[in-house]
Amino acid sequence: PLMTTKPMFDLAYDGGFAVGAFNVNNMELAQSIIDACVKESSPCILQISKGARKYANIRYLKAIIDAGVAENPGLPIAVHCDHGDTVELIDTCINDGYTSVMIDGSHYDFDKNIKLTAEAVKHAHAAGVVVEAELGMLGGIEEDVVGMDAHEYEKNVEKFLTDPNDAKKFWDATKCDSLAVAIGTSHGAFKFKHEAKLAFDRIEQIMKTCPGLPLVMHGSSSVPQEFIDLVNKYGGAMPNAKGVPEDQIAMAVQKYGVCKVNIDTDLRLAMTAKIREVFATKAAEFDPRNYLGPAREAITKMVQRKLHVLNSAGKA
Ligand code: G3H
Ligand code: 13P
Ligand code: NA
Ligand code: ZN
Repeated sequence: PLMTTKPMFDLAYDGGFAVGAFNVNNMELAQSIIDACVKESSPCILQISKGARKYANIRYLKAIIDAGVAENPGLPIAVHCDHGDTVELIDTCINDGYTSVMIDGSHYDFDKNIKLTAEAVKHAHAAGVVVEAELGMLGGIEEDVVGMDAHEYEKNVEKFLTDPNDAKKFWDATKCDSLAVAIGTSHGAFKFKHEAKLAFDRIEQIMKTCPGLPLVMHGSSSVPQEFIDLVNKYGGAMPNAKGVPEDQIAMAVQKYGVCKVNIDTDLRLAMTAKIREVFATKAAEFDPRNYLGPAREAITKMVQRKLHVLNSAGKA
């Protein structure tokens, strides 16, 4: 059934697993994510970005997700707004039946982030909806927001990571239900110039200053080299793509207690690699079902792989 992330995080917090949150932009993605969660008996967070709402038209996306929920009444499913930026958008998402929303004020100064987040929490809680907030700055797309280049970010990464004492103040002031933290991950397919190294000590410190607060890790795709190789083999051009190694994700979750892990890029890669392969190897193919169908299967396999990394298989 449709639910908030609260019961999911209650289990994940001490359970040595995290709930995977996967981005939905169309029917095939929604079906693959749900199918993988059913196959692995895993709780499921379907998340929708502002861009996804714009691309798919929320009525269509919502109808697809409603169909998925109705088809799989036994599966715990949360529908989450990813990187919400205004209280107006949060209100719309609440009206649209989301069970969870993110208000991302991480690019504002501390006090403005608190003010925006507290306002979003007031609206959401009145409707029984839970709120994820963000504190700290991730690499990748977020560093662009402040016009910094990746080298500069990586050189100074320590000062962009979430401060454990600020996290506690922020949580007290906003009453958010979960917190996205900057601990060395980064959005997109080109995360690092150098090697990825998560700041496990930082996670540990935040867990200590904020006991009971579920932590969220954005930018958690691993950009598996074999998928980059497939994309490039079948006509793509993605040089220097790099992600967070899966063993580091597993460590953050299973040893350090991160509760929600956001993955979008790896699903895009699985989908694109398969469509490219069909086009490259079956030049006469023009029935969309014959490339979107195999792509859907490839996404399902990718999500299943992630559910094992997150140790959430069997936890539904
Ligand atoms: O964090 C961003 C997510 O990967 C969603 O990306 O805004 O392109 O839909 P998008
Ligand atoms: P990736 O780009 O690493 O998949 O991160 C997705 C994300 O954080 C969505 O909010
Ligand atoms: Na956990
Ligand atoms: Zn994100």
